[in-house]
Amino acid sequence: MATTNKITVSSLQSKKERGQKICMLTAYDYPTAALQDEAGLDVILVGDSVGTNVLGYRGSQQVTMDDMLHHLRAVRRAVRRAFLLADLPFMSFQPSVATAVKNAGCLVQEGGAEGVKLEGGRPVLPQLKAIVDAGIPVVGHLGFTPQSQAREFYLFSDRRGTVPKFHGKGPKGAKTLLEEALRVEEAGAFALVLELVTEEAAQAVAERLKIPVIGIGAGRYCDGQVLIVHDLVGLTEKDLMLTKTYGQTRQNWIEMFRAYRREVEEGAFPTAQNAAHMTPEKRAQLAKLLN
Ligand code: KIV
Repeated sequence: MATTNKITVSSLQSKKERGQKICMLTAYDYPTAALQDEAGLDVILVGDSVGTNVLGYRGSQQVTMDDMLHHLRAVRRAVRRAFLLADLPFMSFQPSVATAVKNAGCLVQEGGAEGVKLEGGRPVLPQLKAIVDAGIPVVGHLGFTPQSQAREFYLFSDRRGTVPKFHGKGPKGAKTLLEEALRVEEAGAFALVLELVTEEAAQAVAERLKIPVIGIGAGRYCDGQVLIVHDLVGLTEKDLMLTKTYGQTRQNWIEMFRAYRREVEEGAFPTAQNAAHMTPEKRAQLAKLLN
């Protein structure tokens, strides 16, 4: 049974210190977020993956602040206990420090986020630091960073057989990643997401950072895990080795939609039980009226 204690930046930090894994999922709508909150998830992320998973965009570069706010507000209405995190979308923080602080503030004030996530290392550290200085908790995101890598569409639209490009494949790459992660921590991030990183490199980062490191396609030794909810429930056709499908929603939904269509076409739905009825008296009056 999930505890009712509200998840905060400090409770997430305590989880790392106690060696307890942090559990995070994306959500983009009210009912999904409500179920995740009830299931006891620690962090609910309104990711810019809303673009490819919900809005039918080709990549996350198309996602706007308006898109984020629309979905964030829906999720906000549902979340009581989990920490609510929102992505700063492409071009909402890259242009300048002032733009970054303004848009991070907007996700908090107008969308109800409790923290923001931004992709990238060294080039965006001034933005990260300024957002933290403004009093907004920030999560960093290194490894594969979809906003700045155009190959995202290729990687995430392919089905079986896709071999994603992992970061930190060799010692030099792993060391560079670690250095970048330490800079993100030093700039004030309270957690870091590592995406598509070899298990060895991710472990080196998680062991050396004081803040929690949350992996997606980053192996077993991170302090927590994040997945895209549509992959977890089997709503997408993706079958990447980094994710795990816990249900067959896509197939179940197709079958339900087909069953519904069949019953409507055959006249099996709606039945008399699905309808409201007049009293026999009123029915007789109606027949008279129409004759
Ligand atoms: O947008 C997103 O869903 C993300 C996760 C992959 C961490 O950034």
